[in-house]
Amino acid sequence: MPENAYEKTLATLGVAQPEQVAALFAQLSERAVADLLTASSPDGFEKFRVQWLGRKAGVLTLVTDNWLKPAAPELKRAVGQELNKFKAQLEAQMEARRLAIESGAEEAVAAKDRVDLSLPGVMRPIGSRHLIRQVFQEIEDIFVSIGFSVVEGPEIETPYYNFEALNIPEFHPVRDDMDTFYVEAQSDSAKVPPGSLLLRTHTSPVQIRTMEKRQPPVRVIVPGKVYRRDNPDATHSFMFHQIEGLAVDTDITFCDFTGTIEYFVQQYFGPGVKARFRPSYFPFTEPSVEFDVSCIFCGGSGTGASGATCGKCKGTGWIELFGAGMVDPAVYGFVNYDAKKLSGFAFGMGMDRLAMLKYGIDDIQAFFQNDVRFLKQFP
Ligand code: FA5
Repeated sequence: MPENAYEKTLATLGVAQPEQVAALFAQLSERAVADLLTASSPDGFEKFRVQWLGRKAGVLTLVTDNWLKPAAPELKRAVGQELNKFKAQLEAQMEARRLAIESGAEEAVAAKDRVDLSLPGVMRPIGSRHLIRQVFQEIEDIFVSIGFSVVEGPEIETPYYNFEALNIPEFHPVRDDMDTFYVEAQSDSAKVPPGSLLLRTHTSPVQIRTMEKRQPPVRVIVPGKVYRRDNPDATHSFMFHQIEGLAVDTDITFCDFTGTIEYFVQQYFGPGVKARFRPSYFPFTEPSVEFDVSCIFCGGSGTGASGATCGKCKGTGWIELFGAGMVDPAVYGFVNYDAKKLSGFAFGMGMDRLAMLKYGIDDIQAFFQNDVRFLKQFP
């Protein structure tokens, strides 16, 4: 059958006998089946449908227009019958093909979505809390167990809370020990004047903020980041962590203070560690002390395993842990507490150094370098 046979009339094709009509439709049917088999996807099927059944230029329309309508009267009946037979056949074949394509597509989708339970699962590594966070949790548990609660305060402070209300007036020499980062800031309406905001150099300003808000008895600990313009080395960082403690009531004595600190040291380091107080000076505590523990690296002997002087305690056998003291009555004046009726103690520990001592870490910088090999040692 010529390529464009259905665009020609039967007369042009030389079909004049009913038998020739049957033969022509048989060829047409063969072509349709061959075409249909090439349609293997829903898109291909639709293309076939338009090509054969399309109303304007589909093969069936052309056959009707060019073979049936102009057919000679003696052929018309045969053409009509063959055309109906062909149509019915084609519809049945198309339906079978459509079902086959659809079930094939479903299978392909199902195969794509199939879960292979024998494959190993995807490992999703779960992080752990940073050692500093873990140490804070340990310290918090110890103090909460004896009646302290946890409060927090802002890292950007005013000189009033960071210094003045702690009895450290401007030009006081103690400000030199806390070399300060000042913040240049622009509020919505105006530029904040230089020197009026800073990064807190210790957690002690939260003592003032707490006493402003609460009446005694007060028993709080304050964890947080603090900042100083210190040059980084094995024990100094320009950002580090402190944990402040404050207890104020009507009958707190120096013995309560030492008892609390010794209890903390025993709980945190265990019974093998010795502790001592040394006189010190802070403008906001009186008397003030420095608190030392026996060196965990050399067992307090001052001599390392090799027989040389212990580098960690520099041969003294003691390591300074933190400053503390009884709250200076002058501080109560800034928060409208009655200094005649109240007494209390405060302390400020370097949390990073507490962690270093307990876990034998010899460089504070390891906490901030985010080296996973280091962090993984403290799951
Ligand atoms: C203070 O900061 C006082 N606010 C502590 C205090 C609180 C005294 C309440 C009395 C009452 P000091 O400057 O000594 O004190 O710092 C406390 C601790 O912070 C130190 O003992 C040390 O452990 C830690 N520390 C200080 N500077 C650094 C630094 N650059 N890097 C890491 N840790 C530091």
